[in-house]
Amino acid sequence: MSDAPVPAPRGASRTAVGVAALRWLHQSVDGEPKVLDDPISGPLLGESMLRTVAAHLGDPHAPALRELRAHVVLRSRFCEDHLAAAVARGATQLIVLGAGLDTFAYRQPAWARQLRIYEVDHPDSQAQKRHLLAQAQIAIPDNVEFVAIDFEQTSLADGLKAAGVDSSRQSFFSCLGVTMYLTEVAVDALFGLVARFPAGSEIVFTYQPEAQAAESALGRRVGALGEPWTYHISHRSLARKLKALGFQALEELAPRAAQARYFQDRTDGLRAPSRRGIAAAVVGVAPQ
Ligand SMILES: C[S@@+](CC[C@H](N)C(=O)[O-])C[C@H]1O[C@@H](n2cnc3c(N)ncnc32)[C@H](O)[C@@H]1O
Repeated sequence: MSDAPVPAPRGASRTAVGVAALRWLHQSVDGEPKVLDDPISGPLLGESMLRTVAAHLGDPHAPALRELRAHVVLRSRFCEDHLAAAVARGATQLIVLGAGLDTFAYRQPAWARQLRIYEVDHPDSQAQKRHLLAQAQIAIPDNVEFVAIDFEQTSLADGLKAAGVDSSRQSFFSCLGVTMYLTEVAVDALFGLVARFPAGSEIVFTYQPEAQAAESALGRRVGALGEPWTYHISHRSLARKLKALGFQALEELAPRAAQARYFQDRTDGLRAPSRRGIAAAVVGVAPQ
């Protein structure tokens, strides 16, 4: 864990654009079946932004970029599979924390229409998304609300309440590619908030388990974009933290399980990433 200060907001998230471009690349360069079917990412980014980001990313078949792309599409697919199961057992709200250019709401299947979907993000990132949606003429479905919050500056609980999120309803939270950019205080507030939702509520999230991650090639690259990785936590500490908050067991998607579940029999060479840190946790029944 690190107490390193998080830099002041620096405009819309560039890593959000980067991961959206990876989802688009998956549609355009990887074979079938897609791990994640996302026909919206490309139109959302628009041709000129896609050209710029593609040039910045380089050869899409380079091993490191392919592995990162596999991680990005895998985490969304895993999350959306868990969401479907959560809706089947009664979840009625989807709260997308650090939504970035996530496209689930704009390609939502019929089973999701009963949800209220709250896209929560830093105000600068959210303003960019709304601009891109308008530019691409992508309609905003009736069940979608935007909530602009800086997790480091504003209480997430107050912000969600003000936006109409009902904390008495079973809910599903997604938080993909976000915790590593926050402080420990903000991450603890985020998990603490989810834990106060009714039993059966769930969060699917990613975290950085490696202490040295910020020094890796990818860590240095995102740091150079102005979004350094500031938070990591070991699996064991995270499991302990979530248990203390009243979550049931922490489910981690291990590389071997991911390979068997989502990448079996592919002929394009795309494999489950070796990187860990995609996880799910369900809120348990509070002790009497
Ligand atoms: C790597 S992007 C991930 C976006 C999206 N979840 C996805 O998987 O495509 C990181 C996201 O975290 C958001 N974020 C980072 N720090 C934040 C903060 N202090 N408050 C609110 N959002 C923040 C950024 O705005 C950005 O949308």
